[in-house]
Amino acid sequence: MKIKSLGRVGDAGATEHYADPLYYTKTYKDRTHDVDYYAKLAKRSKGPVLEYGIGNGRVALAIAKAGVRVTGVDLSQPMLESLAAQLKTLPKSLQARIDFQQGDMREVSLGRRFPLVIAPFNCVLHLYERRDMEAFLARVREHLAPGGRFVFDFSVPHGEDLCRDPEKAFGAPRIRHPTTGELTRYAERFEYDRLRQLLLVKMDFSPEGKSKPWTVPLTHRQYFPREMEALLHYNGFGEIFFTADFTDEAADQQVDSLVVSCAAR
Ligand SMILES: C[S@@+](CC[C@H](N)C(=O)[O-])C[C@H]1O[C@@H](n2cnc3c(N)ncnc32)[C@H](O)[C@@H]1O
Repeated sequence: MKIKSLGRVGDAGATEHYADPLYYTKTYKDRTHDVDYYAKLAKRSKGPVLEYGIGNGRVALAIAKAGVRVTGVDLSQPMLESLAAQLKTLPKSLQARIDFQQGDMREVSLGRRFPLVIAPFNCVLHLYERRDMEAFLARVREHLAPGGRFVFDFSVPHGEDLCRDPEKAFGAPRIRHPTTGELTRYAERFEYDRLRQLLLVKMDFSPEGKSKPWTVPLTHRQYFPREMEALLHYNGFGEIFFTADFTDEAADQQVDSLVVSCAAR
């Protein structure tokens, strides 16, 4: 798959990585700093919270466990089915705090307003064109209660990733794939489209057992920090604060994820 065939909302680069929730859960099980951060924010806001890209509930379940109601929107049916299956195993009081619906974050209108709207873990990097981001920001404004905050995070473009040889594979330790059960070699290749600012990560899985190898594409728009600030400013947001890596500290040159907090003007 070539980058030129990707870059539309909802295409393979925005969906295939989320087609296997078991693998997703295993891959990100140690990523907890962002979950704790959003759960604390949710508690402080008292909720309810609107989470764009709720996925299979990595963040939403922690928010509900903290006693706050959360409504989610996500495009991926497999991720939402995984969330529904997990909810069935949890106490009814917790189940009652989470509701969700399938849909595109540029389009869904819930007819309700929230004191806190969040879009965790690079969700906005699946908005590839300016008009996608603008449609999304209009939906966020529509769902924010007066005085409410919109908080999201995104990986800062990293020079090294943007100039890699697309044919070069970067190997990682073998994993036991949770879906096939087979020991599987894993490698990533990176291709960057510098005009559309799209980074395609090709995730190559090579099982050592009977299954055939396969590749999963993941396309992320590369938003440079000042570009993100301009998009927010010119789409009706103010009080825009950038902090680093879920610490609430100012960002330095080593920042990985920028956390953005803003309000409708
Ligand atoms: C990296 S995951 C984050 C999931 C969850 N918030 C978490 O932190 O684990 C990004 C999520 O955005 C969803 N997504 C991608 N494009 C979307 C769109 N246009 N509308 C709604 N959700 C979308 C994906 O299905 C995926 O669940």
